[in-house]
Amino acid sequence: MAGTGGVTAGYGAQVPYGAERAGWPRLDGIAYGGDYNPEQWPEEVWTEDVALMREAGVNLVSLGIFSWVKLEPEPGKFEFGWLDRIIDLLHEGGIAVDLATPTAAPPAWFLKAHPDIRPVTRDGKVLGGASRQTYCPHAPEYIAACNRIAEQLAARYSDHPAVVLWHIHNEYGCHVAECYCPASVTAFQEWAQARYRTLDALNEAWGTAFWGQTITAWDEIDAPREAPADVNHAQRLDFARFSSASMLELFKAQRDIVKAHNPAIPVTTNFMAVLNKPMDLWSWAREVDLVSDDHYTTAGSPVRHIELSMAADLCRSLAGGAPWLLMEHSTGAVNWQPRNVAKLPGEMIRNSLAHLARGADGIMYFQWRASRAGTEKYHSAMVPHAGTDSRIWRDVVELGRQLRELRPVRGARVEADTAVLFDWESWWALELDSRPSVDVRFLDMQFAYYEQLWRAHVTADFAHQSMDLSRYRLVVVPQSYVLRAEEAANLRRYVEGGGTLVVSYFSGIVDENDAVHLGGYPGALRDVLGVRVDEFLPLAAGQSVAVHSAADTGGSEAEVAGSGTVWSEPVELRGAEAVLTYADGPAAGHPAVTRHQLGEGQAWYVSTRLDPATLREILRRAAADAGVEFDTQTPDTLESVRRVSADGSVHPFTLDHTAG
Ligand code: GAL
Repeated sequence: MAGTGGVTAGYGAQVPYGAERAGWPRLDGIAYGGDYNPEQWPEEVWTEDVALMREAGVNLVSLGIFSWVKLEPEPGKFEFGWLDRIIDLLHEGGIAVDLATPTAAPPAWFLKAHPDIRPVTRDGKVLGGASRQTYCPHAPEYIAACNRIAEQLAARYSDHPAVVLWHIHNEYGCHVAECYCPASVTAFQEWAQARYRTLDALNEAWGTAFWGQTITAWDEIDAPREAPADVNHAQRLDFARFSSASMLELFKAQRDIVKAHNPAIPVTTNFMAVLNKPMDLWSWAREVDLVSDDHYTTAGSPVRHIELSMAADLCRSLAGGAPWLLMEHSTGAVNWQPRNVAKLPGEMIRNSLAHLARGADGIMYFQWRASRAGTEKYHSAMVPHAGTDSRIWRDVVELGRQLRELRPVRGARVEADTAVLFDWESWWALELDSRPSVDVRFLDMQFAYYEQLWRAHVTADFAHQSMDLSRYRLVVVPQSYVLRAEEAANLRRYVEGGGTLVVSYFSGIVDENDAVHLGGYPGALRDVLGVRVDEFLPLAAGQSVAVHSAADTGGSEAEVAGSGTVWSEPVELRGAEAVLTYADGPAAGHPAVTRHQLGEGQAWYVSTRLDPATLREILRRAAADAGVEFDTQTPDTLESVRRVSADGSVHPFTLDHTAG
């Protein structure tokens, strides 16, 4: 397939932030372990912990994640004795340390001394302490205190042989991802000034001619807090960009501090890939040595194993295909869902192996030993409250054994010839208020397409619309709502060069300022798709429209009779051919699904939310165009993926999701 030259380079993990990234942590075997919070236990328990870790085959623990007050009990007074002792003990036991900076847990003394650093929500609430993540990312006192403790830890432990990885903070963007306090407003004004340079450019980008919102001085800019009516969309989109970037600055500052002491130790911070809407993880992934992720299944969801695969595939893609680390998942129930259903027998090991099959080289849990007190005391752990005479402990030991056997898988890659486009800016923008339909939800559409690929045993990467896509035969675009002209040109080059593109409705609608591409929908992609739409026709709640095979498809394919929900459009053909037609509803008689031959490739357009079987059939046909294997014969309860080592050895994984 021809290359797609001229693409924005470096969106994603492919470009190192420094001269060279530190590699995988120095570990013998697949990483196995979890968050370890020894400060919650008397020191006698520590010896037992290390013995049990050895029994389970644990070789890595994340230490000190919430230990700020224990390390700095008074401002500027540091106490490292306890941390020295536990790190030495772990080291003697052959267990390596992923050492955290504890900045997700500002101490009570810190909040008392600096009450203004407490975050303010969009509706003006000031959030309190006795919890975690109570901070404003723009508060200078907080930033200085974070950097100071990071410096202290790095100075003391960077040459300790047990420390093989840095874990900066914990889940940036979790609980508090943005702040509306005065310091944040000032930071936003500075950010906007740096981005736009002139007020004219800002006013143009934000479309402030609407409702008389023109800004006449930089200090008139406010954070887009709750207001009497909907707030300027472009401003909100920029505030989302700003908030993600601010958190990333916090990370980079600490990363650079620890790196300065020993550049050979890799640095990570734990993402929450599919669940972290506020952080644009493509930009974050560029800044870490290795991608690590926390993933929790939704108890009771019949598709939780597919959701897990989606998260794992996204992580691998964020890592640019390199091995990534599953930093946290659970051995059993969590504590934060409405009904914390336990994992079924066998499910925990299957979950872990599914992550491994999709490119993880490490399997870690929250947490090592279940807490006796605190809000997470009912969260499962590797060592449950019941101790080692428990189903979970036996599984933990068994998994350790299996991971030792799977050692040769380390470093092996997952190969995919299909990609699904995933774009945080589209996620942010399309879920703002005053949209054509509240039923258009980003993750819902991502999952709808991903699920049908998964069920047909197609291994997919995720990618961004600005990337060179030429190595993929099939590219699926569930909802790239924000599309810059150059990104649309990238997709066009991809198709012309022989790629097969499948685009769903409400993609290519606005530019980076959330301003509509004019001349008919989907503005940026009309020519690629060979269609034009003069009006959106979203459907009422619960409304369904019938779709069937278009009359003129030549009869070589089986007849389709399906349905669409959420959306419809009066699609006009401008070069494309109709594949399915609306049989009824507001777009009756118009094409519902089209196919456009363009250059060496083809671009499909799906203008409604197809029922799963019909969507699968459309993807099957697109996959046939692309030459991608689409297996509808093998049961979709069997997950099969493979990893391939550099020497060509193949590691096939087959997971039976009917078991247990
Ligand atoms: C994660 C977090 C952990 C723990 C876990 C519980 O989001 O990083 O500290 O709270 O959730 O599931």
